[in-house]
Amino acid sequence: MQRIINVAAGFAALALVSASAMASDKGDIGNGKKIFDEGKGDAPACNSCHGMDGMGDDNMGTPRLAGQGFTFIVKQLNDFANDKRQDTTMFVMNGNAKALSEQDRRDVAAYVESLEGAVSASNLEEVKAAGTVPVGVRHKGQSVVQFGAPDRGVSACHSCHGFNGRGAAPMYPRIAGQRYVYLVNQLKKWRDGSRANDPAGQMRAVAKNMSDDDIHNAATFLASAPLTTIGNGRLPPKEAH
Ligand code: HEC
Ligand code: HEC
Repeated sequence: MQRIINVAAGFAALALVSASAMASDKGDIGNGKKIFDEGKGDAPACNSCHGMDGMGDDNMGTPRLAGQGFTFIVKQLNDFANDKRQDTTMFVMNGNAKALSEQDRRDVAAYVESLEGAVSASNLEEVKAAGTVPVGVRHKGQSVVQFGAPDRGVSACHSCHGFNGRGAAPMYPRIAGQRYVYLVNQLKKWRDGSRANDPAGQMRAVAKNMSDDDIHNAATFLASAPLTTIGNGRLPPKEAH
């Protein structure tokens, strides 16, 4: 009897250990916030380009990080650090990521994932007024996101990125509510192959068949795409670990 109790206690202890290992797996949100707001060592404060609230900036071409999935952010920072992805917009992110330890990258990713943010990061009227990147037609973009453009060999964004591009963790990032200029830049980079850190070339295969109009239209819809349908406010669960 005593042995059985010991074994059971052993199992309980094991379960506790793995539960706490899971909780710390995502990183330290407090340290992540400190890095984001103040920088660390050679890494500058992230908020100077990604915004105080992590919502990005269309004039700089920086992405929204608020609410993006943890595993995806860690992957991007590792890819920048290992030069698998090149920042050809401001030429800063490779150095920034190298300046952070692997644990710091996890901590800052845990912090930005925890930021909620608004449905839409971009104000398309401001983008239009700036005049540097043309804005597309929203309803045409909605069609590309939901159904693709089968006649031109463009897969529906929906099929990998989830409903309206709200993200399907851990692999597929949230592209709904992302900054307009960033979305356009990335789609063009996937198309010309200057961004090539997508597993199995999935994004390059989608973007290579997109016209400039497809890109501007899809980005116009995505920039303010709602994450849920009317009458069903449920979101898929966040990553379990
Ligand atoms: C001087 C401006 C600047 C600073 C400071 C900066 N970033 Fe960036 N960041 C950028 C730009 C520009 C891009 C987009 C690169 C591209 O177009 O591929 C980017 C992209 C990223 C991405 C990719 C997001 C995605 O959706 O794929 C992550 C993650 C990121 N930055 C995190 C950080 C973190 C963490 C810090 C602070 C340690 C930081 N950045 C500081 C300019 C900056
Ligand atoms: C076959 C699956 C698949 C389809 C279909 C797909 N994507 Fe992606 N997409 C991915 C993957 C995987 C990534 C992440 C790549 C990485 O890890 O860097 C990605 C990343 C992206 C990014 C970069 C996000 C960021 O924050 O850096 C954008 C923008 C994007 N996709 C837009 C689209 C659009 C628009 C469509 C529809 C026209 C689409 N995708 C269809 C698989 C897909």
